Amino acid sequence: MENMKRTVTCGDLRKADDKKTVILNGWIHRIREHGGISFINLRDRYGITQVVVDSDSPAELADFAKNLRMEFCIAVEGVVRARPDTMINPDMITGEIEVVAKAIKVLSKSETLPFMIDEVQKDGTPVIPNEDLRLKYRYLDLRTERMQHHLALRSKVTLATRNYLCDKGFYELETPTFIKSTPEGARDYLVPSRLYPGKFYALPQSPQLYKQILMVSGFDKYFQIARCYRDEDARGDRQPEFTQIDMEMSFVERDDVLNLTEGLMAHIFKETMNVTLPEHFERIAYDDAIELYGTDKPELRFDMKMQDAAFMADLGTFQAFKDAVAVLPDEKGGSLSGGSVKALVVPGMAESYSRKKIEELEAVAKIYKAKGLAWMKVTGTETEPNLEGGISKFFEGKAKDVCATLGAKAGDLLLFVADTKKRVACTALGAVRSKLGKDLNLCDPDKWAFAWIVDFPMFEWNEEENKWDTAHHMFTMPQYKYHDTLESNPGEVKGDLYDLVLNGYELASGSIRIHDPELQKRIFKIVGFDEEEGQKKFGFLTEAFKYGAPPHGGIAPGLDRLIMIMCRESSIHDVIAFPKNSFAISPMDECPGEVDQKQLDELHLKIVE
Ligand code: AMO
Ligand code: AMP
Repeated sequence: MENMKRTVTCGDLRKADDKKTVILNGWIHRIREHGGISFINLRDRYGITQVVVDSDSPAELADFAKNLRMEFCIAVEGVVRARPDTMINPDMITGEIEVVAKAIKVLSKSETLPFMIDEVQKDGTPVIPNEDLRLKYRYLDLRTERMQHHLALRSKVTLATRNYLCDKGFYELETPTFIKSTPEGARDYLVPSRLYPGKFYALPQSPQLYKQILMVSGFDKYFQIARCYRDEDARGDRQPEFTQIDMEMSFVERDDVLNLTEGLMAHIFKETMNVTLPEHFERIAYDDAIELYGTDKPELRFDMKMQDAAFMADLGTFQAFKDAVAVLPDEKGGSLSGGSVKALVVPGMAESYSRKKIEELEAVAKIYKAKGLAWMKVTGTETEPNLEGGISKFFEGKAKDVCATLGAKAGDLLLFVADTKKRVACTALGAVRSKLGKDLNLCDPDKWAFAWIVDFPMFEWNEEENKWDTAHHMFTMPQYKYHDTLESNPGEVKGDLYDLVLNGYELASGSIRIHDPELQKRIFKIVGFDEEEGQKKFGFLTEAFKYGAPPHGGIAPGLDRLIMIMCRESSIHDVIAFPKNSFAISPMDECPGEVDQKQLDELHLKIVE
């Protein structure tokens, strides 16, 4: 009785093990009594095994079993009994057998549970407790099949990543998590220094500068499963601390980085899910992504591209269309400025979309600054289409022209956003497209739609501060053909930078970097960093670049986001063992917490109420 260490796991036993004596260790998943027989579903990471206490068990076990409760951690010694063919449970991996208990030991009791592990409703749908309860009792939540699956997959993906990259000659190197605060987009988390009053370490938003310096040091191919820290507003696909598969390579061009990343994704999907990805992913220029999908992270599991409907301004009498296209592009903001009418043909949805449902779509468009969402329904026949409802009165007699140009047919719903700013028309109607994708279930959960977004603008105009900002980070190489016109026409400059998108999420971001200190200085200047400021913030990088920096580039897929998408989850919390909630709090350990006055004093800090 004393030593009841397991001889098998709860997922091991099959018919062939009939009559074997075994010891199992695990948690009581479910326990029920039927006509004096106790049935215990014993669970561990590997599966569930049915243990029975019946007339073949020692008599005293019957009473003992009555005091067992869910989630007690127990050891069972027993004999495997093959189930008769009619009793085999095909839903359990160990469904061919049960174990007749000979001895049971309680290794540890459990209090009454705040929620049941893997509770399901009568119809089989899972009962998911509210998130804060799940996070407060995370150790229990992590016992669920879903969370066990997600974290197991995470481990496999990390291993597959290491194997693939090490095979390709990459070194896994660590970079510091206490660094100098450097602007990288989000707010830094700061760590006050005890030894140097008033000075702070920052937690890295990414290993960006260090990995570039490793290239200067000749390591050639680097990767790191890197923790990153960003104090930014919560969102379903964001965490204050998260993990990147961070990579950097020397003597490479853009396509080398893209090919390597495609190979890595193919390896991960094959090894962990037996999914074969295409050898190469589609490449979409940033401007095209905005024009066709209204976003730089398009959901490509369904097609339904947006179309240019500027022709409709002249065709009919709808004033909003005429007003929009009358506006010409200005000198700022690149090729996406100027006015535009964008159209979406929603196949076969004319009948199912009531005015109320269209209003819901309009509300989404308005969040993205659209003035409205115009609509019409195509009725009639294939050869004699008709336009009805919405703005159809402005297009009388024009149904054939409209349908032919937009490729619409009877039964389709037509949606339009017109704006004096093309970008607004695109992003607003793009948001409507995304909502339709969800509402109409257009996304096949078994599809993995990867694509590269390339040719991003290098700079973005900051309306509030009236200045140029870099669109990615300051170390991105402007594409070579723009090197002579950086200062004269920043809005037109494309960067040598790329994003990898998967099923409507930005999965990875990277670029070819600047390795020439002079070019770097020009970029600093365009975004309004004077020489002194540049020197103070990034001096160590530009200094390092004075000593023979190789051409280099890299990329960083977000590991959490990748696992979230692979697990078909919509919250990143569900693939991280101990995440923060949407208020950046961990309800389990109540982090962040207060500290003693003594600690504050040592750190030279005073709390201002
Ligand atoms: P970037 O800031 O685009 O690039 O980040 C790269 C990828 O990291 C993931 N990610 C996040 N995941 C969870 N929570 C967050 N708060 C979060 N922020 C980012 C995303 C994103 O695509 N140093 C550059 C990379 C490079 O240029 O090599 C960088 O960090 O999946
Ligand atoms: P109005 O003429 O303002 O009453 O608008 C008529 C319809 O056109 C409404 O459905 C509006 O939502 C829509 N609408 C108004 N302005 C725009 C615009 N700029 N783009 C698309 N639809 C618009």
